[in-house]
Amino acid sequence: MSQPTIESILQEKRVFSPSSEFSQAAHIKSLQEYQQVYDRAKADPEKFWEELAASELHWFQKWDKVLDWQPPFAQWFVGGKINISYNCLDRHLTTWRRNKAALIWEGEPGDSRTLTYAQLHREVCQFANVLKQLGVKKGDRVGLYMPMIPEAAIAMLACARIGAPHTVIFGGFSAEALKDRLVDAEAKLVVTADGGWRKDKIVPLKEQVDKALANNGAPTVENVLVVKRTAQEITMEPGRDHWWHDLQAGVSGDCPAEPMDSEDMLFILYTSGTTGKPKGVVHTTAGYNLYTHMTLKWAFDLKDTDVYWCTADVGWITGHSYIVYGPLSNGATTLMYEGAPRPSNPGCLWDVVEKYGVNIFYTAPTAIRALIKMGEEHPNARDLSSLRILGTVGEPINPEAWIWYHRIIGGERCPIVDTWWQTETGGFMITPLPGATPTKPGSATFPFPGIIADIVDLEGNPVEDNQGGYLVVKHPWPGMMRTVYGNPERFRRTYWEHIPPKDGKYLYFAGDGARKDEDGYFWVMGRVDDVINVSGHRLGTMEVESALVSHPAVAEAAVVGKPDEVKGEDVFAFVTLEGSIDASEELEKELKKHVVGEIGAIARPGEIRFTDALPKTRSGKIMRRLLRNLAAGEEVAGDTSTLEDRSVLDKLRGGA
Ligand code: WTA
Repeated sequence: MSQPTIESILQEKRVFSPSSEFSQAAHIKSLQEYQQVYDRAKADPEKFWEELAASELHWFQKWDKVLDWQPPFAQWFVGGKINISYNCLDRHLTTWRRNKAALIWEGEPGDSRTLTYAQLHREVCQFANVLKQLGVKKGDRVGLYMPMIPEAAIAMLACARIGAPHTVIFGGFSAEALKDRLVDAEAKLVVTADGGWRKDKIVPLKEQVDKALANNGAPTVENVLVVKRTAQEITMEPGRDHWWHDLQAGVSGDCPAEPMDSEDMLFILYTSGTTGKPKGVVHTTAGYNLYTHMTLKWAFDLKDTDVYWCTADVGWITGHSYIVYGPLSNGATTLMYEGAPRPSNPGCLWDVVEKYGVNIFYTAPTAIRALIKMGEEHPNARDLSSLRILGTVGEPINPEAWIWYHRIIGGERCPIVDTWWQTETGGFMITPLPGATPTKPGSATFPFPGIIADIVDLEGNPVEDNQGGYLVVKHPWPGMMRTVYGNPERFRRTYWEHIPPKDGKYLYFAGDGARKDEDGYFWVMGRVDDVINVSGHRLGTMEVESALVSHPAVAEAAVVGKPDEVKGEDVFAFVTLEGSIDASEELEKELKKHVVGEIGAIARPGEIRFTDALPKTRSGKIMRRLLRNLAAGEEVAGDTSTLEDRSVLDKLRGGA
């Protein structure tokens, strides 16, 4: 069980086709049908999206223009008026779905709640009114730092309802990381909880918010709303902090959805890139609504009878697009689970599948690999026969994990949907359609209709089949990010200039390496930039380096990914110390703790190696390739002639 290598994937020739019963009942029923839809969309993408926008969503006012493309800035459905909260809630209330379960929630300690569409609508309206009473207006940013409880979805939808963009900050981020994001977004209000359950422990969310706001840390924040979840002692600052339940009591459940311009900002979500500072990815209303709606409907063949469960956290894009907005826009039943497999309950996921008769299950390869380690007796002891489709996202899935998922969880009958996409893309870009696409373990297969993807070299020229290259997208799509919050130049530079425009056409550079095989299947290999993927979470190596050098003992740091059986990659740091300071185990522990304090537990280095110097080129660039080899315990490969001082490498090797 390791990350897929080119060799292992090139040898992967197995093909799995859906059963004919499955295909006949699917939205897209055959490869031929996919091809027809794809070709039609490719011939005229605007027409393709326009027809779907008209048939799938509710509009307060129709658009004047489908796409306004001023590369690299796109506007979709210009002039249209729409509200995603209306599309996720109100429009279902006039149908039989009114009393259908919209959100099923299971808490880690075993408590649970089900909200119908009518109930969810009421709570969202009430909370939207609470926000308004606290002075939140259209355009104001609201920070959400929440556990996986229904209030997280309610708060997102309430923000969308009144046009206040949310920025959800993953509950595992430290106070420092939280502060940075609140400051960058200039958030006016923060919604949090006293705590959340995480593997039998309480994550003290409110305490972190207090730390982030201490000493006027995020001066724009005026109010903090606190959900009571774990009921431990917390401090409430009078005037600033309020209990959610106090303010919601007696508030009207009537709050009409604000008609938003198609291009009004829906949310900002921070993600790691190649610089020290995470960037705020901006998504807008109409295009994102349409794109998450359609991709979920077709790629998970969503049916009204399905109980759909995505195990992501709402703090990540997967939670935004495929726990909250995509499923609810489709009128589906979406399941939210606070817990995670843990030693005290290794079979908890399968209990949830059995308890609610889950039909569609969507998780990450790192979770699958951890489950394999826990042993197949846990899934085997539960009734998983309700499952009909399985999904995976976050990193390339190694064929062994794919086959285990297929056999042990899917009972060899459930198609596996391997979805390649990013925070920036809003929704799935390359994915099988389960009734149509024969799958190959480890391949995300083909682009979604309307997505024109290719693999090119650094000049933007397409490469031959089975040649590795850079994954690019050649035409704008409705769910694409619009800009980096407050930094349009960074948006242009990062995504559109890395590979120069080809014949005047801009190419979206995803940061991933990939190849296409002789049948046109895409195989994503992983990041080609200084971003590493730890347990499916994106981390910029520079971010961790900045955290390390902010410690007074550290002179210089270089961070690379080290292959890891379960996590995919682990953080490996090379550190040089300030003059008189000696390396010690104590210091190593302290530095790890320091990184956790600066970013969060997801960034904790698995290993820190102290060294007198880092291998650099004559022009002073750290040679990360060498460090990656060293971290992996491999022979140092390739050319080392540009090394400034060979003895540095010899010493590092000696220490290996
Ligand atoms: C990686 C998560 C291979 C990829 C939705 C991408 C994948 C990054 C897959 C985005 C997949 C995601 N196969 N690699 N199916 N899905 N990735 O922004 O490197 O957290 O660039 O979005 O995850 O991570 P992000």
